[in-house]
Amino acid sequence: MTLSSRRDGVGNDDDLATSVFSKDIEGVLIDGPQIQARLRELAAEITADYAGEQLLLVGVLKGAFMVMADLARHLDLPVEVDFMAVSSYGSSTKTSGVVRILKDLEREIADRHVLVVEDIVDSGLTLKYLLRNLADRGPRSLEVLALLAKPGSARPELRVRYQGFEVPNVFVVGYGLDYAERYRNLDCIATLEPAVYAD
Ligand code: PRP
Repeated sequence: MTLSSRRDGVGNDDDLATSVFSKDIEGVLIDGPQIQARLRELAAEITADYAGEQLLLVGVLKGAFMVMADLARHLDLPVEVDFMAVSSYGSSTKTSGVVRILKDLEREIADRHVLVVEDIVDSGLTLKYLLRNLADRGPRSLEVLALLAKPGSARPELRVRYQGFEVPNVFVVGYGLDYAERYRNLDCIATLEPAVYAD
């Protein structure tokens, strides 16, 4: 796997190979321009689907902070934004399915069109919990955008209406996703050198 030669994020036009992250990055699965192009496509779909409506984007922190910011800029709609912070118990590379709400929404969502924005659906347990929790609050509609999905996570009950990319069943970082709270500020989706996990 080769490193991407184009970067629009940290370090502007620098090659990732010369960045502070280079020794930790094994390879780039999806580069920054690919992410932005896909978000523009999804934003065009969402803009058409919600034309004439007010949409509330609900970002799931922390991972979704990047996709929220970029998606919102591509939408030609009057949107409001709110955030939930959730944390799943488990190790840093595996979720356990037990979800804790660290920060709830600030406003009621009854009778609102709600689009949940996630960075990744892995086991699907976080999203399953969130959808059940939000559905109980009586939104007019409830849909999901996930930038990334792991194979097998496309189960009907998860209702991921807008999906960016499917990624292989490996641990990925960047563009919001972390390992031990690091690498969230990469502008691409990457895999880490095995040595990083051994630290
Ligand atoms: C990640 C990610 C999703 C969830 C997906 O969040 O942002 O919310 O895991 O995993 P699942 O489909 O197996 O439930 P995490 O709990 O790592 O918190 P973070 O977003 O703050 O990094």
